[in-house]
Amino acid sequence: MTQFDFNKTTSREGTYSVQYDGTEALFGAKGLEPFWIADMDIETPEAVRDAVKKRLDNGIFGYTMWQNERFYGPVKNWWETRFNISLNEEDIHYAASVLYTVGEVMRQVTDEGDGVILTTPSYNSFPNLIKGNDRTRVETPLIYDEDKREYFLNTEEFRELCSREDVTLYIHCNPHNPTGKIWSEEELLEIKNICKENDVYLISDEIHMDFVRPKEDFVSMVSLLEEGDPVLVTTGLGKSFNLASIPHSYYITKDRKITKDINNAMGSRYNVSTASSLALAAIEAAYTECGDWIDQLNDHVEGNFQLISDYIDEHLSEYLSFDIPKSTYLGWISFEKSGLNAAEVHKALVEVGGIAVSPGKLYLDDENNHFRINVASSRTRIEDGLERIRKTFEYLSK
Ligand SMILES: Cc1ncc(COP(=O)(O)O)c(C=O)c1O
Repeated sequence: MTQFDFNKTTSREGTYSVQYDGTEALFGAKGLEPFWIADMDIETPEAVRDAVKKRLDNGIFGYTMWQNERFYGPVKNWWETRFNISLNEEDIHYAASVLYTVGEVMRQVTDEGDGVILTTPSYNSFPNLIKGNDRTRVETPLIYDEDKREYFLNTEEFRELCSREDVTLYIHCNPHNPTGKIWSEEELLEIKNICKENDVYLISDEIHMDFVRPKEDFVSMVSLLEEGDPVLVTTGLGKSFNLASIPHSYYITKDRKITKDINNAMGSRYNVSTASSLALAAIEAAYTECGDWIDQLNDHVEGNFQLISDYIDEHLSEYLSFDIPKSTYLGWISFEKSGLNAAEVHKALVEVGGIAVSPGKLYLDDENNHFRINVASSRTRIEDGLERIRKTFEYLSK
């Protein structure tokens, strides 16, 4: 079996990467080491690059259809071989991006001013979409269980919020960004039933689905779908294969009405219904040839998380607590036990540590006493990041 090297350094200079070139404007300081936005320092697998190059060699990039066996086949193959789920072609639909899909479903199934539920901490683009579409954010904080070291839904509160007249949509995130929680089948079923009983539409954003360790622990909402369910699952390869700048996504649903409404919007309202030819080439190669690659990448990510956990135990246990997440390449690190002022910590990470990580408040973290760190990078960079974090807390504790 080919062994892949995830420690290689590839320069992003001249690529206008948001992670590197966008950091100074966002954090207000020069020369920071960035670990914030969710893309990888890791090259897309060679098989995917070869397929894109081959497509480039054709030389014509006109309007392109996704309704063909070279899209459906690989998608079905991936779900079958990775998650043991057999998909029907009629349930699979290409769309411009995951967040486009979330926004479009919101516009279709809710009215202006309606309440949209988010579990907090929440991926920051969800509140942005709610605000941008003039809907109202309704939050239910996840409860952290100290013994199990895991986050859980407050089911009673969730049920109560769903029963409110003004609440019409819940955006579920599985695997969960930023906590790395993966949801059990029992939890998913309960959520789905509560939503259905209360006429609350359910979107499940599963874009991080390929980063679950072990992969067998992932339960997709897709496995619970029944004909006509008011549920839509959106996902893509943007995270898994580092393709965020080759826009694409796909969604899976058995709700024929929403499919028709999204098709109409993509066709007549926004004119975004054709596919990216490069994305289609990438999807085909990734979903037929790159299972080993993503497995090995998960081992690398796990190794980086272990390094962080060991480093915290050895040097930073007075200040930080960290649970290795079962999913994603995003670490959710708490500095609650340091007792330090949150604003001072976030400021010092930038000004003393010279590191750009995402502050908890971005994710509606009540106390702002966490930060999110992206570990999809080389081991050396993670070591450098850890030294910067240590420098920050040693300075603050003086
Ligand atoms: C949960 C989640 N959904 C969606 C996205 C973005 O997806 P897209 O670029 O396809 O809109 C991200 C990116 O970080 C994410 O973490």
